[in-house]
Amino acid sequence: MNDFKERNVEFQRAVPDVYGDAHPKGLLKSIQEDGEHLKQLSSQHIISSDQFGRDVLLQLFRLAAKFEANPQRFRTPLQGKILISAFYEPSTRTRLSFESAWHRLGGDIMSITDRSTTGIAKGESLSDVGEMFNNYGDCVVLRDTNESSVKDMMRSLRIPIINAGNGLDEHPTQALADLYTIFKWRPDLLSDSGEQRQPIRMGIIGVPNQMRTVRSLLKMLAIFPECLEEVVIIHDEEGDRIWDAGQLEQLQQAGLKITISTDMDKALPTLDVVYINAIAWKGDGFESYGASFVLDRKSPLKKHAIVLHPLARGDELSTDLDETPHNWYFSQARGAVFLRMALLTCMCERIERVMDVWM
Ligand code: CP
Repeated sequence: MNDFKERNVEFQRAVPDVYGDAHPKGLLKSIQEDGEHLKQLSSQHIISSDQFGRDVLLQLFRLAAKFEANPQRFRTPLQGKILISAFYEPSTRTRLSFESAWHRLGGDIMSITDRSTTGIAKGESLSDVGEMFNNYGDCVVLRDTNESSVKDMMRSLRIPIINAGNGLDEHPTQALADLYTIFKWRPDLLSDSGEQRQPIRMGIIGVPNQMRTVRSLLKMLAIFPECLEEVVIIHDEEGDRIWDAGQLEQLQQAGLKITISTDMDKALPTLDVVYINAIAWKGDGFESYGASFVLDRKSPLKKHAIVLHPLARGDELSTDLDETPHNWYFSQARGAVFLRMALLTCMCERIERVMDVWM
């Protein structure tokens, strides 16, 4: 070790050598390329996980894997385009990963992080704000506390908008990032051969009708029911209060086998993927759920189980799991940048600039 390093031990960079060995190569190999499907995303609004079909998702994951495998290769697909990044509710990952994705693709950004600095503070409607956004940018990413916000803005928008979280409703690009992580971890799940595909058991510690991340993830999982032996919803709410009317039935009709448990430690040793979330945004604040559920090194996880979390975390996810192979939540957050790069490239009609991806 040289002098500089010896004197600065406590300031040395953390090198992530244990968590999430999520190299995208396996995923690239397991999806046959067909960029035609991605043209369906051109100029589309992204509001809900409901909008996606299997072929589009697979090609989106493939493009994300291509970006992730070679991050230096595509620096200009969004050159000349402007993103309006409007976050009227706090965010670390979603805002910064969308902005990072846009920067990495060569575009420019206008960012609003406080609605009180805009005309909304004077009573301006989101529809009128949207009408103005048409003049200033090529794409909008909106996070807002109200479920109706994205649709209110869509009334006047002629440029595409992405729902980056609207109250209790949905967070579709988080679900895209979640699924991208799972398929990087187990690309064999996408095998056409039933013999090669070993379906997984997934636990979701959360409340499907209170958490937008869980709602969007379940819808996304329902597009790949053959990959899941069972989804176990783990919660400590009373009765059936965890579902909206028709929510469970819709998932079951799509082919998901869903069971419910209130005993996390009993369920954990049976699970291959454990997804945990504890908060739900309500109005201008958040509520916590599942106070009795804490994942830490002592939790009875399967040896090769992975843990996912949309983050931000609270007490439910101990930092003592960070340096274990169970930690795929950091990889999940990192992969979201590449997934969002893929989505933005398609929505902003710049797929032709990465067409050599398909050769
Ligand atoms: N996952 C997620 O939505 O995180 P942020 O709230 O930090 O954007």
